[in-house]
Order: sequence, then C-alpha cells, then structure tokens
Amino acid sequence: MSFANQVAVITGASSGIGWEVAKVLAAQGCAVGLLARRMDRLEELASDIRAAGGQAATVQADVTQRQETVAAIHRLRDALGPVDLLLANSGIGKPTEIEPMNMGDVDYMIRVNFLGVVYAIEGVLPEMLERKKGHLAAISSLGAYKGLPGESGYCASKAAVHVYMEGLRIQLRTRGIAVTSICPGFIKTPMTDVNTFPMPFLMTADKAAQKIVRALAKRKKVYNFPWRTTVLMKSLRWLPDWLVARIISGYTEHRPPPAG
Ligand SMILES: NC(=O)c1ccc[n+]([C@@H]2O[C@H](COP(=O)([O-])OP(=O)(O)OC[C@H]3O[C@@H](n4cnc5c(N)ncnc54)[C@H](OP(=O)(O)O)[C@@H]3O)[C@@H](O)[C@H]2O)c1
Repeated sequence: MSFANQVAVITGASSGIGWEVAKVLAAQGCAVGLLARRMDRLEELASDIRAAGGQAATVQADVTQRQETVAAIHRLRDALGPVDLLLANSGIGKPTEIEPMNMGDVDYMIRVNFLGVVYAIEGVLPEMLERKKGHLAAISSLGAYKGLPGESGYCASKAAVHVYMEGLRIQLRTRGIAVTSICPGFIKTPMTDVNTFPMPFLMTADKAAQKIVRALAKRKKVYNFPWRTTVLMKSLRWLPDWLVARIISGYTEHRPPPAG
C-alpha cells in the first residue's frame, strides 16, 4: 500500500521517532498533520517538509487533555482532509521509584502514554467509522511484554496501549479499519539519550522510522522490532525473578535522575 495522497496525523512529531516517521511519510507523498506541545519544533519540521515539496500542518496540544487533543486533531482534518492514518506516538519515560513512591511521575506517565493514545483515537475514529476506512496505529514498546524492576509504570502504560489496540483491532475487524500496535526496542532519541546504561541493539530513529512505515504499509497487527531485542524481551518472560533481577540490576542501579 502507498501513502501517496493519504492524510496522516502523528502525535509527538516534535522529536525522535514521530519526527522521523513524519519525514518518511511526507517523502512518500502523504500529507502529514503534526501534533505536540512544542510548536517551534513542529514548525521547523513542517517547513523542512514543505521545502522538500511535501504537505504538512501543525497543531499544539497536550495529549493528557482530552478536549484539547480532539479539537487539535479536528483542526488538522480541516486543514488536510479526512485522516487515513493516525500514529499515536506521544510518550514519556520516567522510572518507577518505591522509597518514596514517585506517584506524580507515574500518574502523569500513564496519562500521557495511555490516555494520550485513547484521546487521539477519539479525534479520528468517528469519521473513520463513517467512511468505513482508516488505520489506527500506536507506539507501544517491547517493554509491554515484561514488567521490569524500576520500570513498572512505563511497562504498564505500554502494556495498556498494546492490549487496548488489540481489543480495538478485533472490535473493528469488519469495519474497514486496520489497527497496528508497534513495539520498538531501544531507539536513539532524546528519550534514550539520557540513559547511561548499555542499550542492546540500539537503532537510529531514521532507521526505526523506515521500518515502522513499512510495517504500516503492510497493515501489520503487531510490529515488534528489532528482532534480537524482541527475542530477549520475550525470553525474559520465562525466567525466574531472581535471574531477571540479576540481568536487569546493572540497568536499574545506574538510572539517571528522572528527566524533565
Ligand atoms: N526511544 C525508544 O527507545 C523507545 C522505545 C520504545 C517505545 N518508545 C516510544 O516511542 C514514542 C516516541 O518516543 P521517542 O523515543 O521518539 O521520544 P522523544 O524524542 O522524547 O519524543 C517524544 C514525543 O512525545 C511528545 N510528547 C510528550 N509528552 C506529550 C504531551 N503531554 N502531549 C503531547 N505530546 C507529548 C513530545 O513532544 P512535546 O514535548 O513537544 O510535547 C515528543 O514529540 C514514545 O511513546 C515512547 O514511549 C520509544
């Protein structure tokens, strides 16, 4: 399937994976609607896309705000036309601390990473149902497959995204709407640039974007990548807790202070 003359909305397009996916889609002739909080970054990306002959529109929204997110996506639809593809990508990563519990961080992370996806879907799904076509995609994580020490909140938020998309996919199977859950391993972006621990099979964001767009073109149900990290994460599910704790200890003990 080609993205030429399609309309895509990408949340979290001001940085990292969202930024790169927007560029790849635009280069294929897709009009891209860019959403995030940092308008200066979105405008920079939109002008790059236009300079290369593509079409882009920008809106500012905080995806934890339901009405704001839905209204912003409607403005993108008004500017570009009915939305064929939503990539709900906005997300943050915060550690989960226990002494004391960092409730504020965990609460906010779950609202951005999970409810932010649901609110973005609310912005496009009614019209997709009317048109009997469309594609909903969200960025989950390979972290959705295993609760990791020090990352309980992040893994839970990504597992929530993954199973929400799974349920929607089955519910929408006769309605002409494809649903994709994308589960990346470590990708080099501002989110992971703060990590001081080793990140196995780290991939550049532009390579990740190429892979994501290819998976979207195939309307994959679930896209796990890179394959070696997928095998690693899925294997962790079968190991005893003491062994997981030992494998992960270097990772959790060297966490930087929470960013942002
Ligand atoms: N990098 C990895 O290794 C990795 C692995 C698996 C999954 N992921 C997931 O991939 C997605 C993109 O992450 P990334 O690595 O590209 O990180 P990033 O470079 O930090 O980008 C995160 C994006 O989310 C947006 N965002 C954050 N909070 C938001 C809010 N409240 N409202 C609207 N937008 C918000 C940011 O835009 P503003 O700050 O301008 O709002 C930014 O555009 C996330 O969902 C992340 O969990 C990343």
